[in-house]
Amino acid sequence: MNTIAAEKDWLKLARKALNGERLTLEEGIEVLEADNDEVLPLMQAAFAVRKHYYGKKVKLNMIINAKSGLCPEDCGYCSQSIVSTAPVKKYTLLDKETLLAGAREAMARKAGTYCIVAAGKGPTDKELNQVVEAVQEIRSTMPLKICACLGLLKDDQAMRLAEAGVHRYNHNLNTSKANYPAITTTHTYDQRVETVEKVKTYGMSPCSGVIIGMGETNREIVEMACALRELDADSIPVNFLNAIPGTPLEGAGRTPAMKALKVLALFRLICPSKEIRVAGGREVNLRTLQPLSLYAANSVFVGDYLTTEGQEAATDHQMIEDLGFEIEMCAL
Ligand code: SF4
Ligand code: FES
Repeated sequence: MNTIAAEKDWLKLARKALNGERLTLEEGIEVLEADNDEVLPLMQAAFAVRKHYYGKKVKLNMIINAKSGLCPEDCGYCSQSIVSTAPVKKYTLLDKETLLAGAREAMARKAGTYCIVAAGKGPTDKELNQVVEAVQEIRSTMPLKICACLGLLKDDQAMRLAEAGVHRYNHNLNTSKANYPAITTTHTYDQRVETVEKVKTYGMSPCSGVIIGMGETNREIVEMACALRELDADSIPVNFLNAIPGTPLEGAGRTPAMKALKVLALFRLICPSKEIRVAGGREVNLRTLQPLSLYAANSVFVGDYLTTEGQEAATDHQMIEDLGFEIEMCAL
């Protein structure tokens, strides 16, 4: 057989995405089931789309774990959940000075967005006041965009965050609707969707992503990407499970690096113009193939994740430079 002729024309999918046509479920599954030998042409197709919208720019985001542990929810992947026995730090919401110090650190790491993340089902009004105060001060003194991730929000809370200058609100879908009950029983997939919709109602930019590697099928991964396209999420963190000992998902295997690349290509082709972030689990799942991920993704977290370590900011800066890409500085 002529193997050249048998090669799939992945650029056809890129052209489709660039023409505003939607990939079908079957085409999405084909991407995830592509032979590993096809990963380079597939990444080339994803890069054509990424380059059209973002050139070679890479956006850096920095997370601060503003409230750790003490969460009554039972998300199976999370070390901060009540059902986890992982030895994580437990503390209530950080004070304003510490949140401001984190913002300065984000600037030092060349991050354009500072993500204030607090464990829990949703914030109390007292916690919300604290976040609002810190956000107002950061916004008036530093050229940083602020993203908040505080769980489910009441209407007045969403309004107050938007008024304080929170640019973006993160609330991940995490997994598919069908897989959701296997991961979390204390809240539902539909509640998550409602929160993302609420964020949009109050004028904040919706950030919502997934965690790959929690027992979902390839079809479900495509469905998640399509659900985020329907929700019109502006920013999509694609996490790869880093199974933490002591959590219900401990022992779950890693996503093979080549599979992780196919997933990122899929998200780029399904949500062509959106910020696709190669997020938590980047270092341990992609390992030496990390640089290739940036041919599909245009954004990374710099520094540590919530309870696991990321690589040094300088290593990320070097990786971006070595690729001939450039850091997107925050333009407020
Ligand atoms: Fe709580 Fe969020 Fe962890 Fe779920 S993911 S257990 S809501 S901190
Ligand atoms: Fe902060 Fe999405 S931009 S997590």
